Amino acid sequence: MAAAAPCTVEDAVAALRRGEVIGLPTETVYGLAADASDPAAVARVFALKGRPADHPLIVHLGDVALLDVWARDVPAVARTLAARFWPGPLTLVLPRAARVLDAVTGGQDTVALRMPAHPLAQAVLQAFGGGLAAPSANRFGHISPTRPEHVSAEFGAAVTCVLDGGPCAVGIESVIVDLSGAVPRILRPGAITRAMLEAALGASVAEGAADGSPRVSGALPAHYAPRTPLELLDGAALRARLHDPGVLLLTHGIEISAAFGLRLPADAAGYAQGLYAALRELDTRGARRLLVERVPDDPAWAGVRDRLQRAAAGSGQVR
Ligand code: TXA
Ligand code: MG
Repeated sequence: MAAAAPCTVEDAVAALRRGEVIGLPTETVYGLAADASDPAAVARVFALKGRPADHPLIVHLGDVALLDVWARDVPAVARTLAARFWPGPLTLVLPRAARVLDAVTGGQDTVALRMPAHPLAQAVLQAFGGGLAAPSANRFGHISPTRPEHVSAEFGAAVTCVLDGGPCAVGIESVIVDLSGAVPRILRPGAITRAMLEAALGASVAEGAADGSPRVSGALPAHYAPRTPLELLDGAALRARLHDPGVLLLTHGIEISAAFGLRLPADAAGYAQGLYAALRELDTRGARRLLVERVPDDPAWAGVRDRLQRAAAGSGQVR
């Protein structure tokens, strides 16, 4: 596939103003960004990703003040969380303002908003001024990109350009907190943990979607998945299968030589940062099966655990 062209912040903003789609670095993962107020540009994002129309997009903002432009009846809890964690890897689901396109929200009465911390995302958002709809820059169901070359590998020249922001610091997608119901709810875990949210709010936060709440594609059981079948195993079971024919390993505790696979850092933040690049690399090595060492059952690992479980559920499907 032809590589996507590199570009400057100025090029990126000009392309967005023309209604085009660009690869945008954020601190979590790379996004496929388009003008959230331009129906044709938003349609291009859905077409490129192969994403079903009822899966809503996150609108990225360059300024906290824009909360009231994109959402209505903004509750105090939203302002508290935005003041504490924005810019940063936190997405808030709020009642939508009238101006928000149906295509962005999937026709729902809520909108997901986030202010990313990456300096290039900030520079683009500030120069652009408006909101940018930006799903992760991967085809629907596939592994999210954490490096510019991953965006190129997914979309090549189908995107106008990719802004090179280097490897993403966080490595897994933002935590999504639904503030449109009676209690705050985590719809997708991330680097900002439940305990951190509860500490900021001085109140408890629920986990998982309430019955009848909107669908979150990142919450489908099969998501973030490599093409090679992937299995999660604890350390002892993994050691026993080290010499199975055609397997590659992804570990964090167990030391392995490069021929057997990859080892990630044993802390949650370091592991998250390297996870998607590691899965992408292992996926290219022609293994019959990827064996992943289970990560600790600890709140700090909730985001990573969630992505690994979905990767295991969705792996091995031909895409
Ligand atoms: O870290 C991130 O959030 C990255 C970077 C690029 O910002 N973006 C990202 O976007 O992960 P995406 O489209 O891959 O995932 C957005 C998730 C989807 O699972 C979607 O269903 C959910 O946000 N979502 C969007 N709007 C929603 C809404 N109104 N209610 C509930 N969930 C919503
Ligand atoms: Mg995604």
